[in-house]
Amino acid sequence: MSTTTDNNSVEITKGINGLEKVILREINGSSVELYLYGAHVTSWKNEQGEELLFVSSKAIFKPPKPIRGGIPICFPQFSNLGNLEAHGFARNRIWTIDNDAPPFPPNVTDRVFVDLLLKPTEEDLKIWPHSFDYRLRVTLGPAGDLMLTSRIRNTNTDGKPFTFTFAYHTYFSVSDISEVRVEGLETHDYLDNTKNRERYTEQGDAITFESEIDKIYLSTPSKIAILDHEKKRTFVIRKDGLPDAVVWNPWDKKAKAMADFGDDEYKHMVCVEAAAIEKPISLKPGEEWRVRQELSAVPSSYFSGQLDPNKVLARS
Ligand code: BG6
Repeated sequence: MSTTTDNNSVEITKGINGLEKVILREINGSSVELYLYGAHVTSWKNEQGEELLFVSSKAIFKPPKPIRGGIPICFPQFSNLGNLEAHGFARNRIWTIDNDAPPFPPNVTDRVFVDLLLKPTEEDLKIWPHSFDYRLRVTLGPAGDLMLTSRIRNTNTDGKPFTFTFAYHTYFSVSDISEVRVEGLETHDYLDNTKNRERYTEQGDAITFESEIDKIYLSTPSKIAILDHEKKRTFVIRKDGLPDAVVWNPWDKKAKAMADFGDDEYKHMVCVEAAAIEKPISLKPGEEWRVRQELSAVPSSYFSGQLDPNKVLARS
């Protein structure tokens, strides 16, 4: 299927290994690609056609292995606990296109988008005994921004609430990790995943990278910036309803241990993940949880320390 409006288009086609994928295109030349496998965004290009997300050259596009890179969705758990797959099962299930999605709040920028839906199978109910509708809208904005809106509804008929944790596990493409800094998380508390989730407080400076990092920052601001000095590019993450933010780079040793990740690829990626981890979300039957992540990539006329995307965009 392919629909076109004013040179903006939504195309449904086949990707790697014949897996179904959706391509969103904006008239300005920007584009987004996502697989129904995992509702996994694997490409986000700006109007010059430059790739903004990292996907490993060794990524395996074959169920049940989650795709290494892009934007995996971690649900119903972030991390690797209990019977559930690591980071939950949403990233390795086949989603469907949701042509009957109930209306999302009116948003004038939603011209190029696709709605996807995940419901648990009988097999899923054996490992996580809760019924849900997970609706995801992926939107490419007129300026090339990428928005992901998630709505998760408890559809249990047994009257039981359920609890989950969540992350948009975004892999950003960067020129050289040693030239990158992340702003917006300084002085925040974090749980260090490399130290059994011990709690620390981040120092006052922006985060820079010189070794493995795997931290869950808590109660973070709604805007975080990733500055790539070499590329002269700044990513701005705006998040709504997602208090935590994970920062992850495996560095050399862990990179070598991952079969679906190149030995040197850690130099060209950083994960900054809008998340809800510290305080799991509880939903009663009939209740819906709605969250959003919006990504922009702007030239680094962005001034360090000013996390106001309106100013950033006005200046660029
Ligand atoms: C990060 C976690 O979000 O994801 C790391 O904080 C983990 O601990 C990484 O190693 C990758 O996870 P996975 O399951 O995709 O290999």
